[in-house]
Amino acid sequence: MAEQNPRLAIYPGTFDPLTKGHVSLIKRGLRLFDTVVLAVAKSTPKKTCFTLDERVAMARESFPDEPRIIVEPFDGLLIDYVLRRGAGAILRGLRAVSDFEYEFQMALMNRRLSRDVQTVFLMTDYKWMYLSSTIVKEVALHGGNVKGLVPEPVLERLAAKYAAQGETCPD
Ligand code: COA
Repeated sequence: MAEQNPRLAIYPGTFDPLTKGHVSLIKRGLRLFDTVVLAVAKSTPKKTCFTLDERVAMARESFPDEPRIIVEPFDGLLIDYVLRRGAGAILRGLRAVSDFEYEFQMALMNRRLSRDVQTVFLMTDYKWMYLSSTIVKEVALHGGNVKGLVPEPVLERLAAKYAAQGETCPD
């Protein structure tokens, strides 16, 4: 187990795909923490559109010149990974009231599993309040323009996925 560093935070999620809402949150997290690890979940209750490797690659490509942002995959229980990584905090974003119940449940469960880790919530910037990975995929699938809502590398991969070959994602 790594020694705990209170200035290191883990920002976990499915990131299927990363959106500008996530980018905004992680950048604001860097005002509070020295380093933020964007941790891409392998095991998630959701059926993902992008593979784990694709989700990690897109996130890495989106932060090419930011040594304080580390992107890595994780599997299994989040809290085990956080403790192994020696992080002092889990960073999460709150968009609207609808996020609260699930986030509250997750934070309390993680706290029950380890009292050494704090969950820190930041309000999502109002510009991205309505954004989710699902809505981005849905608009892209039907040919809508999602430029400006996702980082450029994500835009390219969305276009490639939904291009002429008509590839679709699971519901
Ligand atoms: N801006 C825009 N959208 C945002 C956002 C923000 N700041 N923050 C979250 N979202 C969106 C995401 O795009 C995602 O959209 P989607 O539902 O359409 O895919 C949604 O909000 C959920 O966010 P996300 O951060 O991806 O959370 P998640 O619910 O997919 O991730 C894990 C949950 C992976 C962190 C959680 O399942 C986990 O910890 N798994 C490991 C196993 C474990 O330990 N489980 C027990 C936990 S107590």
